Amino acid sequence: MCALEAVPEGGVRAATLAGVPLALFRLDGAVYATQGMCTHGHARLDEGWCEGGQIECPLHQGRFDMRSGRALCAPVTEDLRTYAVRVEDGTVLVDLD
Ligand code: FES
Repeated sequence: MCALEAVPEGGVRAATLAGVPLALFRLDGAVYATQGMCTHGHARLDEGWCEGGQIECPLHQGRFDMRSGRALCAPVTEDLRTYAVRVEDGTVLVDLD
């Protein structure tokens, strides 16, 4: 669905699969996928700030763990949905099931 090299190490990139907005994260070479929108409000996570394996929402600064999608601090309380990812021949593939 997207080239591995398009996902910056330590950062985030937006993607859409079958109409589902996703956030793709790359950390220590591995790729993780979560829902693309914050669980607190209408904010795109790919417009947030990445640091130390966490993504900070651009709207109210709630933070999530990039790997697990876990909500880490107020005002977010609901974890992000996560999706299985595999990389084949330099392409990131996400399973929406
Ligand atoms: Fe993300 Fe409020 S919309 S923390």
